[in-house]
Amino acid sequence: MATTTVTEIASRETFPFKVQDKPTYTKVPGGWEASHKGYKWFTGTVPNDDFVPPQDFEISQQSEKVSINAKGQTELPQKLNVDYNNYKYESLLAHTTLTKELPYEAYDHVDCAGRADPEKKSLFDAITSKTNMTPIIGTEVRGVQLSALTSEQRDELSLWAAERGVLVFRDQDFVDQSPEFLKQYGSHFGRLHVHSFGSHVKGHPEILSNLRDSDKTVFDSFSAGMLTTTRWHSDMTYEANPMGTTFLAALSVPDCGGDTLYLNSMAAYDALSTPMKAFLNNLDAIHSGARQSVHGKKKSPYRRDLVESVHPIVRVHPVTGRKALWFPPEYVSGIVGLKREESDAITDMLYRHLQGSLDFHTRVKWDNKTVVVYDNRMVMHSVVLDYPLGPGEKRHHIRITPQAERPIPVRERKAGEGDMVYDPTG
Ligand SMILES: [Fe+2]
Repeated sequence: MATTTVTEIASRETFPFKVQDKPTYTKVPGGWEASHKGYKWFTGTVPNDDFVPPQDFEISQQSEKVSINAKGQTELPQKLNVDYNNYKYESLLAHTTLTKELPYEAYDHVDCAGRADPEKKSLFDAITSKTNMTPIIGTEVRGVQLSALTSEQRDELSLWAAERGVLVFRDQDFVDQSPEFLKQYGSHFGRLHVHSFGSHVKGHPEILSNLRDSDKTVFDSFSAGMLTTTRWHSDMTYEANPMGTTFLAALSVPDCGGDTLYLNSMAAYDALSTPMKAFLNNLDAIHSGARQSVHGKKKSPYRRDLVESVHPIVRVHPVTGRKALWFPPEYVSGIVGLKREESDAITDMLYRHLQGSLDFHTRVKWDNKTVVVYDNRMVMHSVVLDYPLGPGEKRHHIRITPQAERPIPVRERKAGEGDMVYDPTG
């Protein structure tokens, strides 16, 4: 495996920016100092005249030597100020990839929950206990390893997650499985999403790695200038095919704090009056990745430019037929067809309803090796950054995020109809 530096990477086919301007190089002891648009960094190799710095990427002051991986993409470790040499999950720390790709295009998805036994007998026979966290949302599950589920049981898991919104599994060996296993496992539920910004396991961009440690740099900037760190959202709703059955696994968590909040968007819809339901059933909202993009570009090179999608405010689950008020504050930028004041008033009312009604909220307290399975179509969530982190403390998760169908609006739903065709083996 060849070793190179950032300066070499940009000339490869994995980084197809057009040549616009190049850095200047100055010989310094042990190598060269490169500078470009006010940024300076060090390279130990001979200057590469073809190098074009990534657009909107703040090149680190001191570039590390990195490896070209077998897939032809080049990855950089997330810059950390903490020593992780003896960390059990060092191999799962976040990396970014220097590549530039076209936005995802819409595709047809087959939901595996459609194959499930409605009674979920195979899965329920395998577990020893299930305890609802509230009557409305969330179930704690004991006595089964997610990693051991059969194909039939995974189908039922997906259906159950759609029904309960959130399923919490403790002490899972899921976190100790190989990346290859996790990707194959996750592909059962849909095409695995690769995030527009970095933070993935090295060599496996389909496995998101989310780390906050005492350095705090990654997440704290996200809430700068805000009264709260609570940011309700479903994951990446700006994509044409937003996310479905999702797996979030805790590798290391603080003793107290860093919980994840969930709310049930199905119950939020059910609570509305009949005239309000009828009104919202026919409306679409614009979902934009702009805010996440602004934040992400500060930390990482980005794979794909930000996108916007228009999605129904009320979406229907393709298998259960349940309707969800799918209106995540983090990504919605407006309601299609309404005038500004109308859109603002409806948005304000819906946000107060979604965020204020604790009737359909719950809260997951993490332990190491807890895995939460949630249906991004039917719930929203937010981390709570309420915990102090001293040296050595960290909150580290990995996430497998399968995409699902293009959201189905109420107006297009026909009883018993799915809209699929995703073949994970194809
Ligand atoms: Fe999220």
